[in-house]
Amino acid sequence: MRGTTLNRTMTGLAMMALIGMPAGASAQGYPTKQITMISPFAAGGPSDTLARLTADHFGRTLGQSIIIENVGGAGGTVGTERAARAAPDGYTIFQHHTALPASAALYANLRYDSRTAFETVGLINTGPMVLTSRKNLDVKDAKALFAWLQERGDKATVAHAGIGSNSYLCALLLMQSAGIKPALVPYRGTGPAMIDIVSGQVDVLCDQATTATSQVEAGTIKAYAVTSSERLPAIKDVPSAKEAGLVGFDMVIWNGLYAPKGTPKPIIDALHGALQKFLDDPKIVEQFAKTGTVPFGKDMRSPDAHQKLLTSEFDRFATMIKAAGVKVQEAK
Ligand code: MLT
Repeated sequence: MRGTTLNRTMTGLAMMALIGMPAGASAQGYPTKQITMISPFAAGGPSDTLARLTADHFGRTLGQSIIIENVGGAGGTVGTERAARAAPDGYTIFQHHTALPASAALYANLRYDSRTAFETVGLINTGPMVLTSRKNLDVKDAKALFAWLQERGDKATVAHAGIGSNSYLCALLLMQSAGIKPALVPYRGTGPAMIDIVSGQVDVLCDQATTATSQVEAGTIKAYAVTSSERLPAIKDVPSAKEAGLVGFDMVIWNGLYAPKGTPKPIIDALHGALQKFLDDPKIVEQFAKTGTVPFGKDMRSPDAHQKLLTSEFDRFATMIKAAGVKVQEAK
């Protein structure tokens, strides 16, 4: 009799556990096969660079390889849609940045709900942008760059990674601060945009420190300011926004890791654990520092803290973009 009751209770508990799980998903022994990490921009840019660093480390921690799928286009929204529609089984994960909340305010009809499409796994790192130009542009500082842009009007070209991307938001900031209307040149990511700045095909690009610092150090591009209140030790000769005389030009971006909504909690926990190991690795912290970024502190690392920041960013961007009177786009 006792045995029968116990068996029934066990069956009930097993049923309850199964109800919360999507069909075909199992956290047992996770991961048992290769994982795909979607990066919503072209290869060679800051998102891709961070994704590769994360994937390599996660692969060692989780004992399975992680491949990067670069799904660029429309400021990261094409890749975000792909990730939102993926099976919530832990075998597709997604790394994205500030453009996730920003694009929610910039596009009218996205085919996913940015606020509810993902489980937050944890925040990764944060860092500023760097205002740069082609090397042979004959201006010496930010003030002279602004004057040159004002004089050139729409003959000047400013590259960006699509509406909603960080480089696009930084281009908007530049246009407002300098009172200019240059020709905006969209790319599938700042990886290919950077190639065109280095070869002199476009004039200006505001890119994340993650990839801008190595080009600035190598002298292949010119840098006028970092979009933060302090200089970056990695490129200490480049003035802060304030030092360069740029008012209201602060822009610090952050990266986070996600899984499709409904991914079972034990899988989120396993991914979160791998993320903590990654962020605690002194070699990773050193690598971040070399590229002008810092990992989030321990108090900000839980999935809940990530969700809290994300929610506040949806509200911040919605208010900011409305106040700036920026035209809302139709999603492609
Ligand atoms: C990229 O990797 O291309 C960037 O993250 C795009 C951007 O937000 O500017």
